[in-house]
Amino acid sequence: MDMRLASIGDAAALRRVLREIIEHTGRERPSDEAFVIRQYLANPASIRCTVAIDAAGEVVGFQSLLRAEGGNRYDVPEGWGIIGTHISPRAHRQGVGSALFRSSREAAEQAGLETIDACIAAGNASGLRYYEAMGFRTYREPVGIVQKAYVVR
Ligand SMILES: CC(C)(COP(=O)(O)OP(=O)(O)OC[C@H]1O[C@@H](n2cnc3c(N)ncnc32)[C@H](O)[C@@H]1OP(=O)(O)O)[C@@H](O)C(=O)NCCC(=O)NCCS
Repeated sequence: MDMRLASIGDAAALRRVLREIIEHTGRERPSDEAFVIRQYLANPASIRCTVAIDAAGEVVGFQSLLRAEGGNRYDVPEGWGIIGTHISPRAHRQGVGSALFRSSREAAEQAGLETIDACIAAGNASGLRYYEAMGFRTYREPVGIVQKAYVVR
């Protein structure tokens, strides 16, 4: 599995990954290309978006790291990082999430972030286990959501 920085040309591939996750989980969420570009590929708050590529050259997952701005949706303290991980069910449990986090962690360090927030649906057992395994710990639990924090150093 190779990791590289995402570019605008990855919009269709990121959309496909999100659709595969939605089909797998049954949890609908925004996934059109305009959303992908706005949220991940051309977001002024983006610090790094990393994609994972399989042996066939296909994007199988991505992780985005944004800088939290004032008034953000989940009330993450301004200046923290906000992380999001999206991996196709075709590639789960193969170390893709761990490799993506090595890239994001490096970017966080380079950007001088002290803390990263991960916002996870309370019922998303694999997401909760994954972030725990990466070293994130619960700091807040609004209804239906678990927010975990990772201290960069
Ligand atoms: C959660 C997710 C990011 C994990 O990615 P992944 O590539 O499968 O993770 P890795 O293979 O690197 O696993 C790293 C560790 O996380 C933990 N983990 C990951 N998935 C797990 C699961 N389903 N059950 C238990 N532990 C799990 C394990 O400790 C694992 O280490 P191990 O395989 O040596 O036991 C991936 O399943 C995914 O993208 N799911 C859909 C979207 C999502 O839920 N995003 C995150 C929350 S918003």
